[in-house]
Amino acid sequence: MKPLETLGFHHITMVSTSAPRTLAFYGGLLGFNLVKKTVNFDDPGAYHLYFGRGGGRPGTILTFFEWAHARRGHWGVGGVHHLALGVATPEAQLKWKRRLTDAGVPVSGPIDRGYFKSLYFADPDGQVLEIATAGPGYAIDEPADALGRRLVVPPSEREESIQQLTHPEPVPEVTPDMTLDGIHHITGITDDVELAGDFYERALGLRVVKKTFNQDDEHTKHYFWARYDGAAVGSHSALTLFGWEGSRQIARPGAGQTHHIAFRAVSADEQAEWRDHLLSLGIDVTTVRDRTYFESIYFQAPDGLPLEIATDGPGFAIDEPADELGAALKLPTWLEERRPDIERSLVPLG
Ligand SMILES: [Fe+2]
Ligand SMILES: [Fe+2]
Repeated sequence: MKPLETLGFHHITMVSTSAPRTLAFYGGLLGFNLVKKTVNFDDPGAYHLYFGRGGGRPGTILTFFEWAHARRGHWGVGGVHHLALGVATPEAQLKWKRRLTDAGVPVSGPIDRGYFKSLYFADPDGQVLEIATAGPGYAIDEPADALGRRLVVPPSEREESIQQLTHPEPVPEVTPDMTLDGIHHITGITDDVELAGDFYERALGLRVVKKTFNQDDEHTKHYFWARYDGAAVGSHSALTLFGWEGSRQIARPGAGQTHHIAFRAVSADEQAEWRDHLLSLGIDVTTVRDRTYFESIYFQAPDGLPLEIATDGPGFAIDEPADELGAALKLPTWLEERRPDIERSLVPLG
């Protein structure tokens, strides 16, 4: 039987203290489509918002639990350091710099990371975000068919002048060239980068595509894994980890932090195979949970990072027309009888 290999990320779920503010930021400012407005099925007094591209394609889905009173989280071992969103070109990245700066969002970069250029900022809750260019890619310092085979020391000199660049005109609208195509990469923090790598390779079928050092901290290992067939790296699949070897600084969940990340299973049948596979590796995994728009199983990385495998289907058009996604508050059938109470408890999103 062919070994299981995930196609990449399905979604990332973060924590917000204000759904209206999150909608204004990710919808209004960053131009994502709200593809589902629902509640946390385990806590129906709180919103669960889903943003995405193309009706919510896997790999482009950003979701938020709204917990108004959540304390501020902090990054650390077993947590996500930042989420990078993909943009096609450096020119479009500069438009984002101008648009964000004009909106009063502090931005740093672009910084030339070699494999891509990176612009950094944070959402209103403090979740660290990056906008990363699609290219030039991981093959700039090792052959495309032999990625991740050696430890790459980043160049000590890098182009600094691009940090001063911005777009010359205000950018009041998100133009098509600026489209943020969902998850470019997710960077987490681990206390044992070799153990983590072994886990992601064996449990999820990801492949190491780059072994290097954190360009902002030359003593910290920075490894990249992705869907990789020995020729090309799949989009929406790059998980990178900073290795804080032996660190006891554990991530604190909360506002401005990632709650969990989800990888793809293409079908319910494949998800059943994934579950058997994880169990065969001795990984503690939940039973299949029905999340209406997909089905999910949950487990953890060795460093504690909460993980999920979610099915591609049935998708967000299962309970409202594809051209009206996100317009109405949608509830699963077992919560419909509580709709009046639930609607009263939620702040309208307008
Ligand atoms: Fe990054
Ligand atoms: Fe999830």
